[in-house]
Formats: sequence, structure tokens, C-alpha cells
Amino acid sequence: MPSGTNKRATGGCEACNEPLLAARGVTRSYRVGGQPLSVLKGVDLELYPHEIVAIVGASGVGKSTLLHILGLLDRPTSGEVRVRGMDAAAMPEHQRSALRNRMIGFVFQFYHLLPDLDAVENVMLPLMVRHGYLGWRHRRGAVRERARELLSLVGLSRREGHRPGQLSGGERQRVAIARALVGDPAVVLCDEPTGNLDTGTKEEIHVLIRDLKERLGQSYVIATHDPHLTTLADRVESMTDGVLAPRPGPVGAER
Ligand SMILES: Nc1ncnc2c1ncn2[C@@H]1O[C@H](COP(=O)(O)OP(=O)(O)OP(=O)(O)O)[C@@H](O)[C@H]1O
Ligand SMILES: [Mg+2]
Repeated sequence: MPSGTNKRATGGCEACNEPLLAARGVTRSYRVGGQPLSVLKGVDLELYPHEIVAIVGASGVGKSTLLHILGLLDRPTSGEVRVRGMDAAAMPEHQRSALRNRMIGFVFQFYHLLPDLDAVENVMLPLMVRHGYLGWRHRRGAVRERARELLSLVGLSRREGHRPGQLSGGERQRVAIARALVGDPAVVLCDEPTGNLDTGTKEEIHVLIRDLKERLGQSYVIATHDPHLTTLADRVESMTDGVLAPRPGPVGAER
């Protein structure tokens, strides 16, 4: 990985004991065909600066549901989500969106890149949203430079002009990781970031996340079925029957 940016993250809060992100008693229920479906049944989780927490659990147990709630993309049925101590549930939607844009980056299993934009433009998107139309016109050059810097950090300098359809799966995920990091969020939420990749590429993404965390200093929550990826984590939380519990045994034991 090229040298460059060092620990830019706005992880902040090192000076206080407040978690960056906290879920307290979070529940999430749906109604399907008139029947209630209770997915999360009282999740507690705290994420501190420079921490990686892995969430494991069987398919359908609620890992993505929880990440959406932690990322302020969804609201809990009950319980609290606090971002740097602020109660996100109590905020109006525009304030939640602004907080999400500043504080949280997302990496999804299927990349979620825009097919008509090239790699640099995809990476620029969170900052386009942040600055709005007027602010954007003045900052466009700087944002493009920052996006190119991030693409270089993820090893994709030579693919800047490629659209997602002209990239491999591993390269798409690198673009998605650069996009997640471009706004210097404090927290990166990854939903099965290696779930769609072959073994060799999984390993590359694994090493990349580890190096980026060291270099930039973000905290990560990673939902995964990939036992190797859990070896990155400072803590592994296991989700069973709608609640989280620390997984017993040393981290990395399954390697
Ligand atoms: N919008 C929705 N309406 C109704 N049920 C939903 C909705 N979203 C998710 N669910 C249900 O919630 C449960 C948890 O889904 P979720 O996607 O969080 O699981 P997961 O642990 O991420 O699974 P996987 O490991 O397969 O990704 C599933 O049973 C799913 O069918
Ligand atoms: Mg999922």
C-alpha cells in the first residue's frame, strides 16, 4: 500500500470515555402478512475509538438489521442508538442524515457502486452529498484530489477512470472501501465485505482493512460469516436469538 495519509480519522473522543457508537436495549420488529416478527430483542453494543468489533451469527439472525440501525439507516422499534453520546433516535431525519454522512462509512457485500460513474466519481459521492450543490462547486477540485488519494491508498490508482462494470469484484470492493473512508468518518460499518469474493481476494481485502485501520484510525463493526476476517477483531460478538453476547475464546482461535 502506498504511503501517504496518516491517522486522519476524526475518531476523536480518545480524550473521553464515551463510546463512538452505542446501542442500548435495541429491538427491531417487523410485521409480515399481519404477523409480528421480532428480529432484534434487546441488543447492547459499544464501539470505542480504534476498535474493530466483529459480529457473527447464523444467516437471518439480524446482523444486517443491526448494522442498518447502527448506521442510522433504520430506526429501532425500541431502545437507543447513541453516536458520540448523542441520542440519534430523537433527531429529525435531516440531522440524522448529516450525522451519518460525517460519522459513518458503509461497505456492503455487493458494493453498491453507481454503474454510470467511474471509480473516482463513486468515491467522491459522500462528499458531494455533504457539501450540497453550492458548496460542492467550490470544493470539487479538492474532493477529486481526496478521492484520488483514497483510491491510491486502496491500491487502485491505475483504475481511476474505470466504471464498476470494468472492475473485478475485489477492485469494486476496494472502491467501496475508498468511498466509505473519503469523508474521514469515525466509524466504518461493513456488512459481509468479503462475502462475494474468492479466497485470495478475501485475503487481500482482509489485509487492506487491517492496514487502513492502522493507518487512518477508524473503528469498524464488521458483520461476517468469514472466520478469517474475525481474526482482525478486537472483540467478536455472537448474535443468537436477537441478542449479542461476547463469543468465548481467544480472538483468532479459528485461524
Ligand atoms: N424489511 C423487512 N421486513 C420483514 N422482515 C425483514 C425485513 N428485513 C429483514 N427481515 C427479516 O429479518 C431477519 C434478519 O435479517 P438480516 O438481513 O438482518 O439477517 P442477517 O443476519 O444479516 O442474515 P445474513 O447472514 O443472511 O446476511 C430475517 O429473518 C429477515 O427475513
Ligand atoms: Mg446480512
